Order: sequence, then C-alpha cells, then structure tokens
Amino acid sequence: MDRDSHVLYGSFDSDYVTITRGDGVYVYDDAGNRYLDAVGGVCVVNIGHGVREVIDAMNEQAAGIAYTYGGIVDNEPRRRLARRLQEWAPPGMGHTRTLFCSGGAEANEGALKLAYQYHRERGNPTKRKVIGRWQSYHGNTAATLSMSGRTPWRSVNSPILLDFPHIPPPYCYRCPWDQTYPSCGLTCAGELRRVVRQEGAENIAAFIAEPVIGTSMSAVVPPDEYYGIVRDICDEYDILFIADEVMSGVGRTGKRWAIEHWGVTPDIITSSKGLAGGYSPLGALILGEKVWMAIADGSGRVSHSTTYGGNPLSCAAGAAVLDYIEEHGLVRRAGEMGDRLIAALEEALLDIPYVGDVRGMGLFAGVELVADKETREPFPVEWDVGHRVEADALRNGLLVLAGVTGLVDGVAGDHIELVPPYVIEDEHVEFIVSTLRDSILRVCANAARG
Ligand SMILES: Cc1ncc(COP(=O)(O)O)c(C=O)c1O
Repeated sequence: MDRDSHVLYGSFDSDYVTITRGDGVYVYDDAGNRYLDAVGGVCVVNIGHGVREVIDAMNEQAAGIAYTYGGIVDNEPRRRLARRLQEWAPPGMGHTRTLFCSGGAEANEGALKLAYQYHRERGNPTKRKVIGRWQSYHGNTAATLSMSGRTPWRSVNSPILLDFPHIPPPYCYRCPWDQTYPSCGLTCAGELRRVVRQEGAENIAAFIAEPVIGTSMSAVVPPDEYYGIVRDICDEYDILFIADEVMSGVGRTGKRWAIEHWGVTPDIITSSKGLAGGYSPLGALILGEKVWMAIADGSGRVSHSTTYGGNPLSCAAGAAVLDYIEEHGLVRRAGEMGDRLIAALEEALLDIPYVGDVRGMGLFAGVELVADKETREPFPVEWDVGHRVEADALRNGLLVLAGVTGLVDGVAGDHIELVPPYVIEDEHVEFIVSTLRDSILRVCANAARG
C-alpha cells in the first residue's frame, strides 16, 4: 500500500498497477508491461481501446460544444443517439424515447422513478415497490442497492435500504428447489406471481432483472421460457418489466439487447457501460411507447433529470460507438467469438477439479470455482479464492474479474467473469483460456492444501 497517496482506493491491501495506454484488447502499464483486457475495463470497453473514430468524433464535438444543460436547451448528439437507440430497440417497444444519464445506477434509479410516475399518472399511486432477484446487481445508490440482491453490499448498508422484495434467481446449477430443468416447470419464474400476490399487486410498480446475470453470478443464463413467463405475470398484474442491460446490452451477447434472445419485449431498457465504450460516462433509460405516453398524456412533465444527462460530448461518444459497432458488424462478431470463447473455456477448464461450471452467452462468460466438484461445495469465503485467481492472472498479463462472493447462499461462492472487447481474435482466446487455467490450478491447488 502506498501510504503517501491521496486516492481513496477500494482496498488498502492492494497495490494497483498504473495503466497508461490502451490499444485494441491490450492495455499497458507505466513500466511498459502488456495485459490482455479480458474484462473490457469492467464490461465497458466493448469496441476496444484507442478507437480513432470515436476519439475524432469526441474531439470534434468538444471543439464545437462540450456541454449544454438538457433541461433548458437541446443538442444534436442527444437527438442523434436517441434516434439510434430507436433503431436498436426491440420493435415491440414501439416509438421509444430515451432519457440520458451518466451511469448504470443512475439509469436504474431513473427507471424506478419513471415507473412510479407511469403508475401515478394512470391513477395507481400505491404501486411503489420494485421486485428484484437475489444475487443481482443494479447499482450502488440506496434505491438501486435496494433492488439488488447482492447480500454482502446490502448488509453493510441495511439501514438505508428500501423495503423491496426479491425472488431467487434462475440458477439451474444450484436450483434452490433441487429441481431439474425442464421438468421443474420453471418454479423460479412462477415465484414472481407468488411474491406479487403476497405483497399485493397494488403495491408493485416494476420487476427488474439483468437478462443475463452479471457480476453477482458471472453470466448465468436463464432457461428459454423464463422471461416469457415473467412477462405474462407482469402483464397480468400491471407491473412494468425493466430489463437492466447495463452489462448484457449493446451487442455483448450476440444480439443488440440480451432480452431479444428470449423474444420478449421489456417496458424499459436501462443501459450504460459499453454504450459509450468507456470513452465517456453515459447511461440511458429507453422507454417503450406505453410508458412515456402515460406521462405525455398525463402531467406532461418527466419527474426526473440529472446535470450531465444528455450532455453533447457523452452522446457524441455513444453515437460514434454505435456507428462503429454497426460498421464493423460487431454484434454478430460478439456472438461468434463468444461461442468460441465459451467452447474453449469448457474444453480447457471443465476437467479441473475446482471448476464447477462454465457458462455464458456471447462474449459474456463465467467460470464458477468450487472446493468439491461432486458436492458443489464452495471454497471457504476467507480463502478469497476468486480474488487470488484475479491477482495471479494479472501477474501473468491477463485482466479477469473475480465476481462478488455470495452466489451460493448470499455469503460464499467464487466466480470469475470474462467480458472481453468484441474485437478479440482467436489468438487472444487461446491466451485467455491457457492463462486462466494456469492461474486457477495454481491458486486453487494451493488453497485446497490449506
Ligand atoms: C447490471 C448492472 N446494472 C447496474 C450497474 C451499476 O452501474 P454503475 O456502476 O455505472 O452505476 C452495474 C454495474 O456493475 C451492473 O452490472
């Protein structure tokens, strides 16, 4: 630890490597060491580092006008990006309108407030709870942590959390009901109905879910019928379905939005991370027609805004990133390279006694580590196996992300997440799987020996 530093780092035990530049899938530190960025920053740098077209678009925008306040005046990049997102939206959302902000938590907090407003405008002011899922993550503000099911982060902030219910995640590897898909009949999806009835549908504004579950579980993919059942229950009880695509969206799973794999239309999509590819902070709430029309036909005033939301520089970056993705066919590429990455991970890792599960969709992959493959028993939490694998891989030139522990029972469970840029090549896939294999073997074998 650097005692002289004035930065409040996340951990006082770590010495952070200083990154000075990036190029494609690689980043370089101040000593000239190269690292393959298999987490794209943190699921942000989707099109790779140092993309000239985006940098040029931002320079041009900054030279024209870098900031305007969207509550008083408009700017062209905001309109252009909103039009782009209309083209990208699932057709069932109809005429979309997008509210911009600066990050994922802001997007989900905005979605919560506009879900309240939607119901209020339609004469249902008591609909004020959001149902989330355990082992989910929607942000680190009080309201978004309340929707999240990330136990370790919730427990330390419990006094400020809102009274929001949660249902178990669709996690077949460790089904809480000890059932097997498909004979289970998707008890996990039906659970939403039970909780709605228990809480009273008159109190429920929305259900929020990450279509592919991210940092709390590392790329858990629900069964085929799951979101169809969820959508029907939401419709039955007049509940909005918010798809949190902060990680899974903008092409990462091989479709523009992950929810499209299930053929289901959400009422609101929230996006951030890869939307501006890390070139500028940017978040968005894409509202389906029925949601914003209720406001337009009601009070006519949106009861939410932020200072930096819709600023021209971030919107110009976002529009340039979406242009780049389209021009280079990167959504299809993410799907194809993702299939190769997951197949290579399965082949290289599944014979390791400490790898319980390899999973994912597109370039959104996860590896679950276990102390005992037969019983699926997790490593003791205090061994901190996930972070040790992450640190070992870093020492060997590979950036991976240890997921937050707690996926087994809210406390234990180590997992590693891989969300590389879409411009990854076969040679990078080979390096990722071989380096990760070595790190897992080194760390877990030592950990298991005690
Ligand atoms: C699915 C999901 N939603 C929301 C967030 C919060 O985003 P931010 O950290 O930009 O507030 C995250 C961050 O990891 C996320 O993974």
